[in-house]
Amino acid sequence: MEDLSPKPGDLEPIETASRDELAALQLERMKWSLRHAYENVPHYRTSFDAAGVHPDDLATLEDLAKFPFTVKGDLRDNYPFGMFAVPRERVKRIHASSGTTGQPTVVGYTERDLDTWATVVARSLRASGLRAGDILHNAYGYGLFTGGLGIHLGADKLGLTTVPISGGMTQRQVRLIEDFGATGITVTPSYALSIIDEYAEQGRDPRQSPLKVGIFGAEPWTNAMRREIEEAFDMHAVDIYGLSEVMGPGVANECVETKDGLHIWEDHFYPEIIDPETGEVLPDGELGELVFTSLTKEAFPIVRYRTRDLTRLMPGTARTMRRMEKVTGRSDDMIILRGVNVFPTQIEEQLMTVKALAPHFQLELSRVEHRDEMRVKVECFPHASGQGAEACRELAAKIKQVVGVTVKVDLAEPGGVARSQGKAVRIVDSRPKV
Ligand code: DLL
Repeated sequence: MEDLSPKPGDLEPIETASRDELAALQLERMKWSLRHAYENVPHYRTSFDAAGVHPDDLATLEDLAKFPFTVKGDLRDNYPFGMFAVPRERVKRIHASSGTTGQPTVVGYTERDLDTWATVVARSLRASGLRAGDILHNAYGYGLFTGGLGIHLGADKLGLTTVPISGGMTQRQVRLIEDFGATGITVTPSYALSIIDEYAEQGRDPRQSPLKVGIFGAEPWTNAMRREIEEAFDMHAVDIYGLSEVMGPGVANECVETKDGLHIWEDHFYPEIIDPETGEVLPDGELGELVFTSLTKEAFPIVRYRTRDLTRLMPGTARTMRRMEKVTGRSDDMIILRGVNVFPTQIEEQLMTVKALAPHFQLELSRVEHRDEMRVKVECFPHASGQGAEACRELAAKIKQVVGVTVKVDLAEPGGVARSQGKAVRIVDSRPKV
């Protein structure tokens, strides 16, 4: 793999500023952001007043803990534009979540917000090892989802040649990566696996592809999956994180030279980790729910937004800004199986250690005689087709031993596990709703 480490002069000064400088900037911006939210969004005025706090009560960064949380329900209650802090005419762009469970969540951006977004995405793509002149194959979905257009903004700012292919039509994905000589790819990790399959289908070797780096996010994935993808493509694989409520992709990104967790672009997004049960702020290093406060956003300021993503904060390494560990999963995706908490990423980790099994999987939950059951649906690699039964036994044993739950592993025909073209659906839950 090519050395993609940054050269002197590649980074923005703030990326290597001292912690003190960064903290001073954060405090100044946080004061502005809380006041901006309080003065312009009725929801924040009401919630701050109800909690008995005022933006003037923020004298230190730690004082943020006095302010109330914001949750997805607050955004839904203010559908569509009630959380906007600027007149609608100043909103240049709208994005929205898919809203599979009712009302979509709507977010907005002013001209300056779009510029901030471009800056943090350009920074993320640079941290991943791309430079002006590189060709980026952007397979995140374009449209209301922030993935496609968000990456596109940053790629423009960095000076890349962008191929805005979006998701789907996998045959064409392979063809254009090869024909256009893409050096970077942005795509969900699960869709990257479908693209790898398609290479095999076309009798091409992905290791011979022009790609130098893949920038994967929008869903949880493990270091085991990283190794699988890096090996398949002979390229670097780094993690990009973000969520529409906070901005979109580019809230945090791994540095290609260290691959040791994602640096949060803390000059724009202030992170906290809380105990999801009590709401108490936890010290850096402890696992809990990630919470964000925007520091510079105009159209859609967000105060202490509960992401439901579980991770921990760690000190900076390749950059001054703190890192977050790869996300274990969302609290919504945590399966409680007969008293044991299980995340799909834990199953993924074990699956990757069973050589004969392909990396695609889905978890099926059902209730049999009042007991919850989980079946893990997997496939064999075509070249290992005779070893399916043994591989399934091996996986069940590993899951039992490491994760601590008894599951059934079902072997599907090659292609039998649903393929993703964006975010993978990992859990199919047919248990009766209570
Ligand atoms: O998924 C934004 C994005 C696009 C990020 C492209 C990265 C790349 P939403 O659709 O609002 O936004 O979904 C946000 O996706 O709260 C996490 O649960 C999950 N997620 C995003 N990135 C990662 C990641 C985009 N790198 C939700 N690892 C978040 C794990 C991730 N989960």
